Amino acid sequence: MKIAIPKETREHETRVAGVPETVKKFVALGAEVVVQAGAGDGASLPDAAYEAAGATIAKTFAATVKGADAVLKIQRPTEAEAKSLAKGQMLFCTMSPYGDREMLGSLAEKGVDCFAMEFMPRITRAQSMDVLSSQANLAGYKAVLEAANAYGRAMPQMMTAAGTVAPAKVFIMGVGVAGLQAIATARRLGAIVTATDVRPATEEQVASLGGKFIAVKNEEFAQAQTAGGYAKEMSDDYKKQQAELVAGHIAKQNIVITTALIPGRKAPILVTKEMVASMAPGSVIVDLAVEQGGNVEGAKLAENVVTDNGVTILGFANLPGRLTADASALYSRNHLNFLTPFFKEKAFALDDEDELVKGIRLTKGGEVVHPQLVAAKG
Ligand code: NAI
Repeated sequence: MKIAIPKETREHETRVAGVPETVKKFVALGAEVVVQAGAGDGASLPDAAYEAAGATIAKTFAATVKGADAVLKIQRPTEAEAKSLAKGQMLFCTMSPYGDREMLGSLAEKGVDCFAMEFMPRITRAQSMDVLSSQANLAGYKAVLEAANAYGRAMPQMMTAAGTVAPAKVFIMGVGVAGLQAIATARRLGAIVTATDVRPATEEQVASLGGKFIAVKNEEFAQAQTAGGYAKEMSDDYKKQQAELVAGHIAKQNIVITTALIPGRKAPILVTKEMVASMAPGSVIVDLAVEQGGNVEGAKLAENVVTDNGVTILGFANLPGRLTADASALYSRNHLNFLTPFFKEKAFALDDEDELVKGIRLTKGGEVVHPQLVAAKG
């Protein structure tokens, strides 16, 4: 089994899909590992560290993936990179298949077996392989730090000789993995935290972290969680009620962090222009969903927007990538944890009947085979 770990080249991407620790473990399992020169630069991991872990270093993307059985990446390949991939190779990364069906189709035709790590089924056995969770957790933490940095006031209450500093009021919209970590981080910094979600299970989670839960709790809310643990797209009527409820609340907040996503769809708009306009000058909004279309009207990808009323809207691209070393290490372990059970006596064989393999496999035998994508096409 030959594993290739190329350098990521997409814009804003700083992470790497293998770190010396995981390389060493793959080598111990019987794999040969090739790492592209400079692949770990963003994570402060020099080529020498990979070599010490047992990898060989190749100069270019093409040389790295040549003859590899499995290519481990963070992001789906660029057009130029895809040209170097060959029939029979397995590609494991965040494929974002809805973003580029054409690329997926051409990789399928070429006979590359593509696996989308973000499709990992959300079952207990797969928790250690879940890239959405490992990265969202870091994003939630970093979002609070970035907000605190942009906010011209302190987060905790401070009683000083010169007077009292009021604690910041932080509102988290969307209480999944990122939102929960954002609540915990904001609480640790001493803020007063409120949060909202459409999944009823989140109410208790918010309370357990010391936050106050706010939501429209009707029948639709009671049914909003899918069997996979995700939110459904809510009706227009629900969204209207939700907007009315949060509008008054947002006007009193200093920091709003939005994380709401619906798999395979554009992110829902939760903060309208009017809500942004109602906030006090100096308030800060972080839109973690900006890469999926955004939860906040006026948010721009990879830009910091300051509105006419002095509200800063932060729209970071690749927030986990701002904690490159940790994000790379966790993503790399997700890859390692997924692949390890398929090594037996130093040989690798993927089990096509395994429910995790079925869950993430996008292409096989020259075709796109994932049920969600086949259904979306038809
Ligand atoms: P996500 O990133 O897809 O969405 C973030 C949050 O936005 C979710 O909590 C969702 O309910 C919320 N949201 C969607 N539409 C909304 C709206 N209109 N208003 C307010 N909030 C809205 O979700 P994430 O973070 O990937 O995980 C969701 C849940 O999946 C977790 O909380 C957990 O229960 C479960 N999970 C299970 C795992 C496992 O068993 N292996 C691993 C990770 C998560």
